[in-house]
Amino acid sequence: MNQPASTQTLNGPIYDFRALGFAPGEVVVVTGAGSGIGKATALTAAKSALAVAVWDMDAKGANETAQAINASGGTALAVTADVGSDKDVARAWDESARLGPCRYLVNNAGPSMVTELPFDASLALAMGSIYRVTTSWMERHGAAAASVVNMSSVLGNFQGGTGQAFYPVAKAGIAGYTRHLALKHRGQPRANAVAPGFILTPRTQPYLQNENTRVRLARIPAGRTGFPEDVAAAVMFLLSPAADYINGALLPIDGGWTSS
Ligand SMILES: NC(=O)c1ccc[n+]([C@@H]2O[C@H](COP(=O)([O-])OP(=O)(O)OC[C@H]3O[C@@H](n4cnc5c(N)ncnc54)[C@H](O)[C@@H]3O)[C@@H](O)[C@H]2O)c1
Repeated sequence: MNQPASTQTLNGPIYDFRALGFAPGEVVVVTGAGSGIGKATALTAAKSALAVAVWDMDAKGANETAQAINASGGTALAVTADVGSDKDVARAWDESARLGPCRYLVNNAGPSMVTELPFDASLALAMGSIYRVTTSWMERHGAAAASVVNMSSVLGNFQGGTGQAFYPVAKAGIAGYTRHLALKHRGQPRANAVAPGFILTPRTQPYLQNENTRVRLARIPAGRTGFPEDVAAAVMFLLSPAADYINGALLPIDGGWTSS
């Protein structure tokens, strides 16, 4: 049932995601689905009638998301895995096979902008994990693979950023890898990426009261931060049959921030 946009809350607007054209029970893997944007994406995928493999390195987060979906009548499986590990990813695909062939993939997991790792290792984690999960998905489910959405950022693509260098480098690389996938596979699967601006999640919450952040956020034409559900809605659209003619795109989800 469609809900008016005026029902917007901290959790964002609610729409009828069943209209996106997924066949009920088709399988999606969402990485980093134990928190923030990944969690909202997993919950939205379940509202879209997909069966969800909830991957996260944090077992508690993965279990909570999967339980929330199963308790509301959806189908979800919690899978504890670090997408930076070949061994974990192989095991995660084995476990996820219980749901059936994986048609859809959301590469959301990525390290925070602030990490103790050296540049090379951070880059390998942020970009390499998306390559690892996508490549192994194609190897195992190439015939079923319909589309993938990768989590990029406004940073590296539309803005610079004064934090650690690896983050914008990785996020620009993820956009480049997405275009490579789009061309290489000619739409089977389609590959798109999203570029969130400032999205209120457990990761960004501590920065909200920071003066620099407040000055930057004041420039957002939408007059608010993004909610995880804002990103989830765009991810589900790009992933879905409704976006059949969209391949290789990078969509900013930033309330107009990068146009300001
Ligand atoms: N929040 C924002 O403003 C924002 C903006 C642009 C891009 N992003 C991107 O969105 C994604 C999610 O960010 P968020 O703000 O929701 O963060 P979050 O910390 O709320 O959630 C991230 C989740 O990913 C999991 N995770 C992290 N590394 C992992 C790994 N190696 N293997 C498996 N799981 C892992 C964490 O355990 C956590 O549950 C990240 O890729 C981030 O770079 C976020």
